[in-house]
Amino acid sequence: MMKILHVVGARPNFMKVAPVEAALARRGGVRQTIVHTGQHYDAAMSDVFFRQLGIPAPDFNLEVGSGSHAKQTAEIMVRIERVILDVAPDLVLVYGDVNSTVAAALVCAKLLVSVGHVEAGLRSFDRTMPEEVNRVLTDRVADLLFTPSADGNENLVREGVAPERIHLVGNVMIDTLVRLLPQAVPPPYEDKSYALATLHRPSNVDDPEGLGAIIGALNRIAADIDIVFPVHPRTRQMLGQIAGLEISDRLRLADPAGYLEFLGLQRHAAFIITDSGGIQEESTYLGVPCLTVRENTERPVTVTVGSNILVGRDMARLEAEARKILAGEAKSGSVPPLWDGKAGERIAALVARQ
Ligand code: UD1
Repeated sequence: MMKILHVVGARPNFMKVAPVEAALARRGGVRQTIVHTGQHYDAAMSDVFFRQLGIPAPDFNLEVGSGSHAKQTAEIMVRIERVILDVAPDLVLVYGDVNSTVAAALVCAKLLVSVGHVEAGLRSFDRTMPEEVNRVLTDRVADLLFTPSADGNENLVREGVAPERIHLVGNVMIDTLVRLLPQAVPPPYEDKSYALATLHRPSNVDDPEGLGAIIGALNRIAADIDIVFPVHPRTRQMLGQIAGLEISDRLRLADPAGYLEFLGLQRHAAFIITDSGGIQEESTYLGVPCLTVRENTERPVTVTVGSNILVGRDMARLEAEARKILAGEAKSGSVPPLWDGKAGERIAALVARQ
């Protein structure tokens, strides 16, 4: 029986493994092992997603926790090597672009274990972003590359990846959204009566001055519309370090939300302000206008096809785009090809052929 080992570690991985694990289980004939690296460990960042998404409990938790990039990545490599040697999988599947992804891929490459990368080929072309380094390196050593959109294929071919290794399968994160949208928890606010904000990219939140400027812009937008702001632990720490920070009463800081609660919040928001990769995609699927506080995106279809606008780190632009939406001039968009809820099935079919 074919043995498949999934590696996940951080919040955005969980929505991606769920449909692939489920599709492989439905096909049968495989034995699956789930390894959680423990990169994210708070219940609100991890457990709630396993429960709400119906992912089987991890067979192994490596409990690596937080640390510098070198420490976290190295710790994952050391601990996962033992598990991979013990389990001896035929294929290891890694997801997205977090430190757990590249750490596991590199260990597999050295052990000569086949590795498949789910969400391959995305590029922001910005090497100052830790995730970009993780994406490039993971794709370099992966044997099977599953892309969510055609730009991923183009990037990989340009980098010299053999075309027969690249498979355009669609967006697995959207599989989870499609499946769970009927169970989304309606928010305790009227439809479109609020905006939703999230921020956690180091480039936005690790510098107190930059983060203070973004909060200032959110305060000014909140003069016209309530903003619900579930705060990532990284951001929470940094907010605590800004002396004299003022936060409008209408900018409502909250704890990180569960998947079903956050999906409800996205669906009914008037618009979303974010620097997340996954939320750019989810808002595109839902057709909710999204203002992304980044200079670039590795998910360009959310801009060319979807409802996403890159406002950069220009706070005047962020405010101007928010006011346009409030004036009824929101950008509309459509759903990119193959974002149809069946990407996990396509991956399972390809894996079964190996
Ligand atoms: C990581 C990913 C990022 C992804 C994000 C989603 C990398 C390089 N970054 O960033 O791509 O978008 O997850 O959330 O892999 N912390 C807690 N509890 C937790 C986890 C973290 O309090 O459960 C705090 C710790 O202080 C930690 C900080 O958050 O130092 C950052 O965590 P880390 O895993 O290093 O990166 P993220 O910013 O979460």
